[in-house]
Amino acid sequence: MDAIALRRGEHTPIRIQTPKPTPKSGEALVRTLRVGVDGTDIEVLAGEHGGFPPGEDHLVLGHEAVGIVANPNDTDLEEGTVVVPTIRRPHPDGRTAPQHLDQLDMAPMDTVVERGIAGAHGFMAEYFTSEEKYLVPIPDDLADVGFLVEPITITEKAVEHAVASRSAFDWRPESALVLGNGPLGLLTTAMFATGERFSDVYCLGRRDRPDLTIDMVESLGATYIDYRETPVSEISAAHRPMDLVYEATGYARHAFDGLDAVAPAGVLALLGVPTDWPFEIDGGRLHREAVLGNKAVVGSVNADRNHFRAAVRTLDRLPAWVIDDLVTGVSPHTDAEPAFVTDDDASIKTAVEFHRV
Ligand code: NAP
Ligand code: BGC
Ligand code: ZN
Repeated sequence: MDAIALRRGEHTPIRIQTPKPTPKSGEALVRTLRVGVDGTDIEVLAGEHGGFPPGEDHLVLGHEAVGIVANPNDTDLEEGTVVVPTIRRPHPDGRTAPQHLDQLDMAPMDTVVERGIAGAHGFMAEYFTSEEKYLVPIPDDLADVGFLVEPITITEKAVEHAVASRSAFDWRPESALVLGNGPLGLLTTAMFATGERFSDVYCLGRRDRPDLTIDMVESLGATYIDYRETPVSEISAAHRPMDLVYEATGYARHAFDGLDAVAPAGVLALLGVPTDWPFEIDGGRLHREAVLGNKAVVGSVNADRNHFRAAVRTLDRLPAWVIDDLVTGVSPHTDAEPAFVTDDDASIKTAVEFHRV
């Protein structure tokens, strides 16, 4: 069967031939429909994040998948059920962190592998197998957009942790600032602007108008902030202090400047995955700001099965026009390259299609 993979020493995805997998006991065989592409895939291609399965000369890409159960094997799944796979699996060499055994999303990175990202093949293939407990059934009518479930889980988890960090008092957030207008930042801006939790939503980018992402932010009723005109540390004064700041740029300075934009008693949630970058900060001011402002900083990665269930509900309630505007391209797997192009201003969220819905 065909798969889209990255070979060791290379930086561009290629189509390879690989054996169709046979499900082991406890696993189902899934016919892949679509697999989304995000900034993490680009970081994997650049060699900045993740890694190859041990002993393999390639990594099958893709972690944002949706498919249809083709062979339930000995699982309780039914043939034809639409499913979304979770990403993390226990490390094959048996390394475990006992306190995290039931929740792989909270496990140390070196005790897990991530399919399509780090140490395990992903879902960009005509078929994949997975244990039943890592497959989340979704409604049939979400099959064509089911590749958006996994990125939505990222925000479901981060918000759950942000809210939990404020659970010791009656926190009533109104404002949210999303840093970054990439696929994750825009999806999150859409979730916040169309959801019930926040009444005032902002999104930060560094693009010139006219631009599709700015149009989308404004169509959502959110406010676009140009980073080049208003640095993050000035946003509080120029707009308002934000109850939640959600960082989705991978730009490491925002992990620190972001705290200036947070309102007293608010939260800074960090999602980006930067490479090493030493720079100077005023540590004293940062420390004082966090303490005297009762501010919380939450780092968040990956998501648990319950976040997948919440994400399905969120995807179901997102207005159709939001999804239409967000998904700018679905490429056939026989010509997947356009889905990985990042410097195209006409592109927001892309996916590779293996089988028609
Ligand atoms: P992406 O495609 O790289 O998007 C990043 C966006 O941030 C781009 O639109 C970029 O603008 C913008 N940006 C970068 N630096 C900026 C700056 N200084 N000021 C303003 N805007 C800036 O990635 P993504 O898929 O949206 O994901 C965002 C980040 O989250 C990545 O680092 C990714 O690895 C990470 N991530 C983490 C998780 C998790 O579980 N924690 C899950 C998914 C993704 P331009 O397009 O104009 O360059
Ligand atoms: C994926 C997560 C993963 C993270 C770190 C993200 O793009 O969506 O599932 O844990 O990257 O590799
Ligand atoms: Zn991702």
